[in-house]
Amino acid sequence: MDMEIYYFSGTGNSFYVAKELQKRIPESILIPIVSLLHQDNITTRADSVGIIFPVHALTIPIAVKRFLKKVNLHSTKYIFAIATRGATFFRGFELIERLLANKGKRLHAQFILTMGMNDPRSEFYQSPTHAEILKLEGAVQRKLDSIMD
Ligand SMILES: Cc1cc2nc3c(=O)[nH]c(=O)nc-3n(C[C@H](O)[C@H](O)[C@H](O)COP(=O)(O)O)c2cc1C
Repeated sequence: MDMEIYYFSGTGNSFYVAKELQKRIPESILIPIVSLLHQDNITTRADSVGIIFPVHALTIPIAVKRFLKKVNLHSTKYIFAIATRGATFFRGFELIERLLANKGKRLHAQFILTMGMNDPRSEFYQSPTHAEILKLEGAVQRKLDSIMD
């Protein structure tokens, strides 16, 4: 099985998740979405594709939307998405489903991981203590084990 994990990350939370998942699935490769956006066509050749990104304003980041519109997933049989968030609900999986449906594809699995809020404009923004960070990290690590399965 080959797997490509496409990620977008502003401040590293989603990049951390992508790297930790890649460690658990060594045959997978990590690809930064921003390295592809200038291309007219993006084609994946993997059987399985993962997309990892932060929640932005309750939905997916614009970069991820642009990527999903452009990417050719012709050979892909399994698609999963992981959103990392600060605190709120997330409406973006429906949008991903719609963008994939335009290509005759669907989302097979979706996950949300609660991490630190990195948007200083948010009422949920705070500097977590070291103990709070360790607690969040432990929960993320446990959830990654089940995502890997
Ligand atoms: C512009 C912006 C908008 C955001 N909007 C939300 C939101 O609506 N809900 C939420 O829970 N987190 C929101 N966040 C927080 C991020 O989703 C969260 O901190 C995420 O883990 C950051 O991942 P990253 O470090 O990979 O960018 C927002 C962050 C930014 C920068």
